[in-house]
Amino acid sequence: LGSGGVLFYLFIFLNVTENHADPETMLLPFLRQKMKLTGTKYGCGGGGCGACTVMVSRYQPATKSIIHYSANACLLPLCQLHGAAVTTVEGIGSTKTRIHPVQERIAKAHGSQCGFCTPGMVMSTYALLRNKPQPTMDDITQALAGNLCRCTGYRPIVEGCRTFCQEANCCQANGAANCCLNGEKNGDEPEQEKPQLFDKLDLLPLDPTQELIFPPELILMADTTSPQTLTFHGERVTWVSPVSLEELIQLKAKHPKAPLVMGNTNIGPDMKFKGILHPLIISPTRVKGLFEVSQTPQGVWVGAGCSLSELHSVLEKLVPQFPEEKTEVFRALNRQLGNLGSVQIRNVASLGGNIVSAYPNSDLNPILAAGNCKVSVISSGGRREVPLNQDFFVGFGKVILQPEEIVVSVFIPFSRKGEFVQALRHAPRKEASFATVTAGMRVMFSESSRVVQDVSIYYGGMGPTTVSAAKTCQAIIRRSLCFPLNFRSLLYFITFSPCADLLFFPSGRGTTRPSAKPTTSFWKSWPSLLQLQEGREIQPGLQEFQPVSKDQSNHDAVGRPMMHRSAISQATGEAVYCDDLPKIEGELFLMVVTSSRPHAKITGLDVSEALQLPGVVDVITTKDIPGKKVRTFCGYNEELLAESEVSCIGQMICAVVADTKAHAKRGAAAVKISYEDLPDPIFTIEEAVEKSSYFEPRRLLQRGDVTEAFKTVDKVYEGEIRIGGQEHFYMETQSMLVVPVGEEMEFNVYISTQWPTLIQDAVAETLNIASNRVTCHVKRVGGAFGGKVTRTSVLASITSVAAWKTNRAVRCVLERGEDMLITGGEPSSVGFMNDGKIVAADFQFFANSGNTVDESPLVAEKMVLHMDTAYNIPNLRGRGTACKTNLPSNTAFRGFGVPQGLLIVENMINDVAMVLGCPADKIREMNMYRGPSTTHYKFEFNPENLLRCWEECKRRSDYSARRGAIEQFNEQNRWKKRGISIIPIKYGIAFSDGFLNQAAALVHIYKDGSVLVSHGGTEMGQGVHTKMQQIASRELHIPPSKIYISETSTNTVPNTCPSAASFGTDANGMAVKDACQILYQRLEPIRKKNPKGTWEIAVSDCIFLFVLRGPDLYVDWDKMEGQPYAYYTYGVSCSEVELDCLTGEYRTLRTDIVVDIGKSVNPSVDMGQIEGAFMQGLGLYTLEELKFSPFGLLYTRGPSQYKIPAVCDVPLQFNVYLLPDSDNPYAIYSSKGIGEPTLFLGSSVFFAIKDAVAAARSDSGLKGPFSLNSPATPERACLASASPFTQKVPASKPGSFKPWALDI
Ligand SMILES: Cc1cc2nc3c(=O)[nH]c(=O)nc-3n(C[C@H](O)[C@H](O)[C@H](O)COP(=O)(O)OP(=O)(O)OC[C@H]3O[C@@H](n4cnc5c(N)ncnc54)[C@H](O)[C@@H]3O)c2cc1C
Ligand code: FES
Ligand code: FES
Repeated sequence: LGSGGVLFYLFIFLNVTENHADPETMLLPFLRQKMKLTGTKYGCGGGGCGACTVMVSRYQPATKSIIHYSANACLLPLCQLHGAAVTTVEGIGSTKTRIHPVQERIAKAHGSQCGFCTPGMVMSTYALLRNKPQPTMDDITQALAGNLCRCTGYRPIVEGCRTFCQEANCCQANGAANCCLNGEKNGDEPEQEKPQLFDKLDLLPLDPTQELIFPPELILMADTTSPQTLTFHGERVTWVSPVSLEELIQLKAKHPKAPLVMGNTNIGPDMKFKGILHPLIISPTRVKGLFEVSQTPQGVWVGAGCSLSELHSVLEKLVPQFPEEKTEVFRALNRQLGNLGSVQIRNVASLGGNIVSAYPNSDLNPILAAGNCKVSVISSGGRREVPLNQDFFVGFGKVILQPEEIVVSVFIPFSRKGEFVQALRHAPRKEASFATVTAGMRVMFSESSRVVQDVSIYYGGMGPTTVSAAKTCQAIIRRSLCFPLNFRSLLYFITFSPCADLLFFPSGRGTTRPSAKPTTSFWKSWPSLLQLQEGREIQPGLQEFQPVSKDQSNHDAVGRPMMHRSAISQATGEAVYCDDLPKIEGELFLMVVTSSRPHAKITGLDVSEALQLPGVVDVITTKDIPGKKVRTFCGYNEELLAESEVSCIGQMICAVVADTKAHAKRGAAAVKISYEDLPDPIFTIEEAVEKSSYFEPRRLLQRGDVTEAFKTVDKVYEGEIRIGGQEHFYMETQSMLVVPVGEEMEFNVYISTQWPTLIQDAVAETLNIASNRVTCHVKRVGGAFGGKVTRTSVLASITSVAAWKTNRAVRCVLERGEDMLITGGEPSSVGFMNDGKIVAADFQFFANSGNTVDESPLVAEKMVLHMDTAYNIPNLRGRGTACKTNLPSNTAFRGFGVPQGLLIVENMINDVAMVLGCPADKIREMNMYRGPSTTHYKFEFNPENLLRCWEECKRRSDYSARRGAIEQFNEQNRWKKRGISIIPIKYGIAFSDGFLNQAAALVHIYKDGSVLVSHGGTEMGQGVHTKMQQIASRELHIPPSKIYISETSTNTVPNTCPSAASFGTDANGMAVKDACQILYQRLEPIRKKNPKGTWEIAVSDCIFLFVLRGPDLYVDWDKMEGQPYAYYTYGVSCSEVELDCLTGEYRTLRTDIVVDIGKSVNPSVDMGQIEGAFMQGLGLYTLEELKFSPFGLLYTRGPSQYKIPAVCDVPLQFNVYLLPDSDNPYAIYSSKGIGEPTLFLGSSVFFAIKDAVAAARSDSGLKGPFSLNSPATPERACLASASPFTQKVPASKPGSFKPWALDI
């Protein structure tokens, strides 16, 4: 194979020779589009989510060994794969042949809901097992650290993988002391009667000898042919891969500007997201000279081409070979490497690349610099050694090297006696997250004294590049440090003295909080004082659900923990998502062009250049829309494409359609829009209130006389809390394919949405055709959480215009950054008595709705409807207002505003407790509804099950004893505090607009006895299809295996309600039940004639459509009364955290949840909803932060900037119990809706953090209520803890700085 071809193996045994490999093509699109292997998914395109994980195997001729490693296909250039074998999820197992144990176990453990992350999870685990068939739990959590899942909450995935560990797999069912594996049983209930998700004995064994072998042809090729230079010419870029150092030097001398692409983890994202074009790329991954490792008496030289994983293993091997005093730098580096990026990133990212990329917050550079490391560089001018010190890093992404110089290797010295090296990273999320601050510190004491002979301190994240704290070092040198006393003075000195140079570095993120960083970071870096948290593992959690009645037939699947019906297909990558649909002949790709101004007139739109570009077919503007140019939501019109004015950054203006995605993207970049800025854009709630910029209607509800009641109370307290917005971050971005049928204006729309009917209506009115010409198909949705309703309909309308105008199929799949761009403080008063009884409360809820109305007034409504939550406050008033601002429009998220509103209410309870100096749970308990009660909208209900959940949760979590233990812990620890909280929820189920609570089902029984069920719910991971299958199974008296659900489509079931409001099973379940019952009765005469005949004999073909109307729900806002919900779902959660008060980092030690979901139709599916929603809540309240620039630009547009919970955030012990003996007469088989309610229970972690912070503040002499906004990020928790150090940081004067991000 000569120049221009790349040969690699794809493991479903494909020998792939790609003769026209384009250097800009990554493995992911190649697999998906060219090879039609769609199991590997696109989630972010930047190495941040793990959905695209594959395993790469390479033969190493020098050692005659084969290495296997996981990698992100989205950053893996196709040209780099010559001679490699790539294993994708399709390669390791399939339903047609044999599934792999990893696929089986993740599926059976219920680790797959929407399934979009599942192939990535499978491949990360598979790659681990190829290297280590019996991993430890630590290996598993490390391997999965870079794989995000938005649905499951990770616990079930970890449980599935745990079955590969040899370590004890005790389920903790008997409590920690009494292991079930010892055969000792809990007295309460015989073990065998507890419903099990899966039987470990039934699992396929892992047999490493059965794994795919490395292709012998590739070994032969590597052993027999001498490597040659490879050159690839693409449309815009040429790729040269030299094989010798000499050749590399010559190439670099000739093309000094050409980057050296090794792992492509810096260059790749730059090219993709910033549009940087490198016409020539040099890829030295086959130059052996860059991979050599050699040891000298002074230290070790590590080849600059070595991956960070290789560096880690080199150092790990060296550490035990030398006395500890010699390996200080090695160990410090390894500590950093353990948390740098993800395994997939570390497997490809090179050491040289990391150094030369000179990230401001690089993990390695501060230690390499503090540790006296150096690099050996080579060029046509010769070889030289350059120390890695303050002179090396010269600016953002810049080092002192000449452009033609190549880093050959890096020298890491042995440490000397008396020398200590420490490393720090402080990140928004512990794993798979770039750090905010990093530090490397080396101190050398004079022999047998505490006098500092030499010291160097380097920080990352404090300026545009790695910086040296030179002044501080100078001040410390030759001083005597006597721990711990003098260390404290040293700290004080470093942070606050005039020579504290770090204070004067502009923070990497602006000037609002520069001085807090060195304080927290420095403390963290001195483990002798801090006792850093040792590694802790996620324990097997306990999930307890109700067993089915002993009389229930074995064939009846209702109430049993049946696996998600598509879990195996999802785990094998066979499950088809919208963008997996094969390309249609002539298909075009659509890319939207959005506004770059928050509030401006459009003065010009020039598409001429875009139309000239290769592949671009057309540009769609509002003038092209044949029908309605606006969508109407809540009475407001929203333009589909802006015509003359824009009201936020990210608003869609036009759309480019081209033959490929790459061409459409280039076309979109070439569209020129000119603007005239309009004055005074509104970004914050305060600005909106000042200018009365609202969306109507604003809602008010009240009971009692709040004003009068305030006059009678002992105390009044006024507080405020802000809660940040939350991104849906469904793993599958917005995806759709609109296909013109070619006849009588008929269109098929394949789409990922929660509401097919809305899409059908939207497309029809946009194209000015009747709804009967549009059929909307939804096979499955890769996560939605409220984000695939209204926004999706706008995008579908635009895509349909393109399909109509070009008369070709048009696909639109948003990139992660686009998706996040296009897609949301309130003072409240409370009056209470000295004993804690709350007499009056007055709430103000403001929602920052963005530039269009969307569903915001409904969200504000729901906040007001839920503001009583579990409490019977006799005088209660609340106003809900949706504010109109110049930020991208917000839409509803799981919980529809309730999790946001209730945080305000529970925070008020906390404030009352703090004012009175008593535990918050006492105030909660005292004010709860008891006995037959009436809500503030005059709806009668019985809170008995709420109180049962509360008591059960207190009992299960051993709340009282643990609170005592926590107090003791806090007395004994100054810098670490624990906190605990227990939080209830009462959540109304159903749509408060009655007409939405209807559903329909179409059940076909075919002649062969197989049954096809169609209903109005869309499957997005919540398991609605699985539950419908169970319901049909019960009603038709046949096993679930005879029942199939193909898709949701508007031509089988019309006028559906959205799959939202936790009402999917209630509504559609009743429809399926009724349809099945009618069919079963029709078969009655036949069955009577032949009572012993089988189902197959009894059936005749029939089609029946039955429409079922749900409860008539309403709210009369004038009378302030109504029945907005069919019933309530109750739950209580208790969480305990441990907080590092000096850094604000925390870990959830334990969470116990008790939920009343009536009689569950499928307890394992419901358990998944509870855990997944809880983890989303944990993200909302403690982690996920949307950041906007002062000009309204969303900074947090991908997994690199926006952190959703990862495996490292799962509570170390996570127990979920379903309330036994509960009933619900208002829903199918006495079950209850569960999709949304438990998201709010994630706030128990927020309040536990607040509890721990209160303990820290108490040590600082601060008592009483304090402000902690949500999310309680490490930074906020650290500052709220008010340690003596942060207290000394002077607050920045308003107006003295330009904030980096807005407080919206
Ligand atoms: C999702 C993600 C998470 C990450 N998380 C972290 C993190 O937590 N901490 C952290 O520190 N980093 C992190 N990184 C950054 C990552 O470590 C670096 O991008 C990586 O080390 C760069 O190496 P590379 O081989 O991929 O470089 P490439 O992208 O291949 O090249 C980067 C640059 O280095 C130059 N270069 C490469 N090798 C040489 C050489 N031998 N001589 C001269 N120049 C050379 C190239 O010319 C190019 O300009 C993350 C990256 C991603 C994508
Ligand atoms: S798509 Fe590759 S890591 Fe997200
Ligand atoms: S199952 Fe993991 S993202 Fe949906």
